[in-house]
Amino acid sequence: MSEEIINQLDDAPAFHRRYGDWALIAGASHGIGAAFARQIAAQGLNCILVARNETALESLKAELEAQHGIQALCVTQDLSAADATSRLLGAIGARQVGLVIYNAGGDPFISQFLNTSTEHWMKLLRMNTQTVMEISHAFGGRMIEQGRGGFLLVGSHAALGGMRKLGMYSATKAFSLNLGESLWAEWKDRGVDVLNLLISTVDTPTMRETMQRLNIPNAMTMPLPQADDIARLALQELRNGPTLIHPEDMAVAAGAASPGSLRRDHVMRKSAEAAQFIGND
Ligand SMILES: NC(=O)c1ccc[n+]([C@@H]2O[C@H](COP(=O)([O-])OP(=O)(O)OC[C@H]3O[C@@H](n4cnc5c(N)ncnc54)[C@H](OP(=O)(O)O)[C@@H]3O)[C@@H](O)[C@H]2O)c1
Repeated sequence: MSEEIINQLDDAPAFHRRYGDWALIAGASHGIGAAFARQIAAQGLNCILVARNETALESLKAELEAQHGIQALCVTQDLSAADATSRLLGAIGARQVGLVIYNAGGDPFISQFLNTSTEHWMKLLRMNTQTVMEISHAFGGRMIEQGRGGFLLVGSHAALGGMRKLGMYSATKAFSLNLGESLWAEWKDRGVDVLNLLISTVDTPTMRETMQRLNIPNAMTMPLPQADDIARLALQELRNGPTLIHPEDMAVAAGAASPGSLRRDHVMRKSAEAAQFIGND
């Protein structure tokens, strides 16, 4: 595959042709999701804003419509509900969704495995696995038919291995990473881009509140990467899947290789190896 790096945000009409008319942002009410929505609306795409906080969604909708002249649709939906995807699909109707950003997915429990009930872990499991799978299936199918589109799955360094107090979070983020990389390998020659964005700690309301709740020193003042910068970088790199690990991949990019080349090479090599046994169809 070409190592040419394409900056997606330099050409708004091209961005619209590839990903319009509507972008679905799951987890849009604040933080990185709201930053994605603002930057996507600035590219001229209509936005479907999904989260649980209706007031925050309506406020963002009013802002985006006033500032960018686009349409926004708010869908107040808990993505950890078993029927989340069917309800979401019902609310979206026939709108042409060309871009999916799955950003919801933080761990609201952060505890050792046995200190949270299986009922609670199921909520995280459904939000980060079942709903991701169902949304990818529904919108991926439509995008493949159209021969264009994009998926951006917001993940975490925790996807790369287990961690104390983050067992279910890291396991569910690994699911999303592995599904996303597989979809990239299947869809990359069919016009549909897939990017897993793996980030470490970022300045979001959820992260600051969590750090404060856990009595971390300097919880509100510790310098952290900004959500706007992360969202901009991810949209710029959307065509350079399957995975961008921030900030490590940017340091690699400063050397010989392009951002994401390590995971890209891994997925290409493993897909080719597996094809000897399971076919290349
Ligand atoms: N912030 C970090 O340091 C960090 C680090 C690594 C990875 N990440 C990843 O980055 C993404 C965003 O993280 P974040 O810190 O902004 O926190 P977050 O708690 O995942 O919130 C992000 C958005 O998702 C929505 N959301 C959360 N739970 C939801 C649910 N059950 N149903 C529907 N919407 C839901 C939130 O709005 P409502 O509350 O209104 O529903 C918000 O709009 C997550 O996938 C997280 O795993 C973040």
